[in-house]
Amino acid sequence: MTSSELAREALPQKIVRKIKHSLGPWGVFLEGFIRHPVMVGSIIPSSRFTIAKMLSRVKWDECKLFVEYGPGVGTFCRPVLDRLPRDGALIVIDTNPLFIDYLRRTITDNRFTAVLGSAADVEEIIRAQGHDHADYVLSGLPFSTLPEGVGPAIAAATHRVIRPGGAFLVYQFTSRARDFMARHFTRIDNDFELLNVMPCFLFWGWKDEEAA
Ligand SMILES: C[S@@+](CC[C@H](N)C(=O)[O-])C[C@H]1O[C@@H](n2cnc3c(N)ncnc32)[C@H](O)[C@@H]1O
Repeated sequence: MTSSELAREALPQKIVRKIKHSLGPWGVFLEGFIRHPVMVGSIIPSSRFTIAKMLSRVKWDECKLFVEYGPGVGTFCRPVLDRLPRDGALIVIDTNPLFIDYLRRTITDNRFTAVLGSAADVEEIIRAQGHDHADYVLSGLPFSTLPEGVGPAIAAATHRVIRPGGAFLVYQFTSRARDFMARHFTRIDNDFELLNVMPCFLFWGWKDEEAA
């Protein structure tokens, strides 16, 4: 924006832009929530306690492809990249162009790919990036508010895309996501994180070796 454009900018717009800028990624997340409250499902990104607990059960030395659904402003992306092997890949999928654009601008790691699309299309999305399966899939999707049929379709596609021995990692404010997972994953571990706005359920659905 040039200085003359700045001068012409209306005061309310100027104030909103300044507030957004000072909030950094939180401002982008808030704007994403205001534009699509049902799809985003939360007003504040996950806490570091949720992130650490959720990722603690991943066997990183066996992880070549990590997929994340609903990365938002990338709260999990940096912690995942910090743990991922050098030859690993992280593909994130979000339906919100504001978030995908923000992630592409701010994360330059060459193991990282941000895709604008739906988690329901995960198989086509990873195939287009040269992969035939994922080792782990992490979901921050608001399962309880997704449109009818989308949650079950995502759970089914996720089970197909994960390799035997891999896992589907889910964090949610309600335990509803577990119902979708349980149709496909027979072994599901649970935990709970209080230090999150709001406190959330954590699930790890393991794909059994014999389920190949
Ligand atoms: C609660 S936010 C997750 C925020 C972030 N992962 C965190 O930990 O702070 C949910 C995200 O899911 C995205 N989303 C909703 N439906 C989706 C779908 N079908 N496929 C991919 N992303 C979706 C929203 O755009 C939003 O970014």
